[in-house]
Amino acid sequence: MRRVLVTGASGMLGSELLLSVPRGVTAIGSDLREGTGVAAVGFDLADRARVDELFRLHGPFDGVIHAAAWTAVDLAEERAADAARANVDATRELARAAAAVGAPLVVVSTDFVFDGSGQRPYHVDDATNPLSVYGRTKLAGEVAAREAHPAGARIVRTQWLYGPRGKHFPGTILGLAKDRSELKVVHDQIGSPTSTLELAPALWDVLARGEPGIYHAACDGQASWFDLAVATLELSGVRHVKVVPCTTSEFPRPAARPRYSVLDCSRLTALRGAPLAPWRVALQRFLAL
Ligand SMILES: NC(=O)c1ccc[n+]([C@@H]2O[C@H](COP(=O)([O-])OP(=O)(O)OC[C@H]3O[C@@H](n4cnc5c(N)ncnc54)[C@H](OP(=O)(O)O)[C@@H]3O)[C@@H](O)[C@H]2O)c1
Repeated sequence: MRRVLVTGASGMLGSELLLSVPRGVTAIGSDLREGTGVAAVGFDLADRARVDELFRLHGPFDGVIHAAAWTAVDLAEERAADAARANVDATRELARAAAAVGAPLVVVSTDFVFDGSGQRPYHVDDATNPLSVYGRTKLAGEVAAREAHPAGARIVRTQWLYGPRGKHFPGTILGLAKDRSELKVVHDQIGSPTSTLELAPALWDVLARGEPGIYHAACDGQASWFDLAVATLELSGVRHVKVVPCTTSEFPRPAARPRYSVLDCSRLTALRGAPLAPWRVALQRFLAL
C-alpha cells in the first residue's frame, strides 16, 4: 500500500491517522475545509463530481480510511438531513469511488448503532437498533459502503473517543476542574473510553491486512462516564474536585444514548494478535503527553 486517502483529516481521529502513517505509505488528507491543519484538500464528500476529481487529481489511491462524519450527536436530531448527507451520502460516494479503482476502504462507525439493552459486549453480528438520528445515519452509512463496495469495505465501530486534537470528555472534565470543586457525572452509561493514539494504528492494520466486513475497536475493559472522570482527575493529579455520580435522567439530552455499549473486539484482536491497551493505561499515556 503506497498512497492512501484519509478523510476527516482535521478531525480528532483523522489528525491522529495522519500522525501514524505506516512507513512507506503516503497519506493524502481531505476535509470539509482546505488548509485546516493537516487537510490538503477540502470539500463536501457528498459531492460526487468533487470526489471523482479528488481521485483523479490526487490519486491513484490504493487505500482509503474514511474518518469524516457529522459527529454532533445532539444537533443531528434537528439537522437530520445534514447528518445524513455527511454520514450516508458522503460515505456512499467515497465507497463508490474506492470500488471503481479497487481500493480497500475502512469506514469508521460507532457503538451508537446499538440500542444499549445488551448484557454482554456487542459482537459484530449482533442486531443493530440505533436510538438517535446520528446512530441511524451512521448505520445507513455502513450499509451504503458495503453495498457500493462489497469486496473492499471494512466497517470499524469504535466509541468514547478522545485524543490530542479536538473536543472530548477528559478535556472537558479537566477544563471544568479549573473553577469547580464538585462535578456531577453520569454513572449509568457503560462503554470503553478509547484513545485515538491506540485506535489509529489499528485502523491502519485493518486497511492493510483485514478482510472486508465488520470490526469492533475500543480500548480494553469498561467504564462509566463517572469512572472516566474520576480516572482523568486522579491521573492528572487533580485532588480538589469531588466527583458525584448521577443518572442519565438527571441530564436529559436531545439524543438518546445507549445505556450499555461495550464492544466485543475479538475480531480485531485476532487480526493484530493483541487487544488495544486497557482504557486506564491508554488514558495515562494520553495525559502524559
Ligand atoms: N468522537 C467519538 O467519540 C466517536 C465515537 C464513535 C465513533 N466515532 C466516529 O469516528 C470518526 C471520527 O470522529 P471524530 O470524533 O474524529 O470526528 P470529528 O473530530 O468531528 O471530525 C470529523 C471531520 O469530518 C469532517 N466532515 C464532516 N462532514 C463532512 C463532509 N460532508 N465532507 C467532508 N468532510 C466532512 C469535519 O469537518 P468540520 O469540522 O469542518 O465539520 C471534521 O473535520 C467518525 O466516523 C465518527 O462517527 C467517533
